[in-house]
Amino acid sequence: LPDGQALTPPMGFNNWNSTHCRAEFNETMIKGIADLFVARGLRDAGYQYVNIDDCWALPSRASNGDLVPDPARFPSGVKALADYVHSKGLKFGIYTSAGTKTCDTLGFPGGLGHEQQDANLFASWGVDYLKYDNCNNQGVDARARYRAMHDALVRTGRPIVLSICEWGENRPWLWAAGTGHLWRTTGDISDSWSSMLGIFKQNAALAGYAGPGRWNDPDMLEVGNGGMTDTEYRSHFSLWAMMAAPLLIGSDLRTATPATLSILTNRDLIAVDQDALGRAGRVVRASGGVHVLSRPLANGDVAVALFNENAAAATISTDLREVGLGAGTYSVRDLWTGSVDTTASSVSAPVPGHGTVVYRLSRLSTPSAPPAGVTPLSDLVE
Ligand code: GLA
Repeated sequence: LPDGQALTPPMGFNNWNSTHCRAEFNETMIKGIADLFVARGLRDAGYQYVNIDDCWALPSRASNGDLVPDPARFPSGVKALADYVHSKGLKFGIYTSAGTKTCDTLGFPGGLGHEQQDANLFASWGVDYLKYDNCNNQGVDARARYRAMHDALVRTGRPIVLSICEWGENRPWLWAAGTGHLWRTTGDISDSWSSMLGIFKQNAALAGYAGPGRWNDPDMLEVGNGGMTDTEYRSHFSLWAMMAAPLLIGSDLRTATPATLSILTNRDLIAVDQDALGRAGRVVRASGGVHVLSRPLANGDVAVALFNENAAAATISTDLREVGLGAGTYSVRDLWTGSVDTTASSVSAPVPGHGTVVYRLSRLSTPSAPPAGVTPLSDLVE
């Protein structure tokens, strides 16, 4: 949406990938995450939204039609939780579905037909971000359902980021930029290499639709949830940053390993993800499980990812032309190791199985022009 929000992809946390609807999803957890955002430097690294997912509400609305927070999970209520999150200098997000019920089989009330009442309640609680899901939609046209919530949020007068979660079913990249700030492009991610890889391939093909205020959403991060190796999680994070994806942490930070925290707080990768130009990286070559991605950045630099889908280590090479750079000499900084090299032609790296090397290329010099008064050789040749 061109309303000045989400000019870079949203960064934050959502509990779903780590807890689903288990009882550990509660007020204590969410406050703990907000505390860690400050204490462990995540806020300073750019993470902003602390979002709660499905199962926060009671199965029935109140007699006045309002949604009611589940008092077992949120004994202080959602408004108090949002206030707590705001007191830490962070923003607060919530979830519901553009249907009669949400997605979890327990079946909590959805927003279809209740858009204005729910939007008003969310605004009164200080909600800054709404993830709006697609379950139990009764076959009502998706554009109309998401538009209705968009309009209701606007009428509250509170700026609220709208995350459209219809899993790419209605090709939202073709219409959702006028309705929300981000749209899911795929089904749900799970904490496995094959899930992450499949989603990467689907989402990367949609690069041309992303831009400031309108982002492809390949779903939330699984980094740290235990189903992949740290090398695989570094690939996951690298690819999401290259694709200008939202970076919503999906693991319980209260039990995060040092490796998980160092992946999530890689400032150089975050700078790529959050680059002001807002152009998503493109796959410039993919064959035999080797992928080269290139992403132009606001200051003229280019981020290049060399991604090895295969289990065996491989040397992956590209060159300036393939990644969209003109002739010249460039510094080549490895965004995972910090090592710096220079090149005037090729860029190459040994990449472990399932690994990704990401470089940031910065121009050092251009080839010198002929001095004034000297006729270029090419003009003398007839
Ligand atoms: C859907 C969404 C998920 C999550 C669950 C909650 O599956 O795609 O991200 O919000 O619903 O039930």
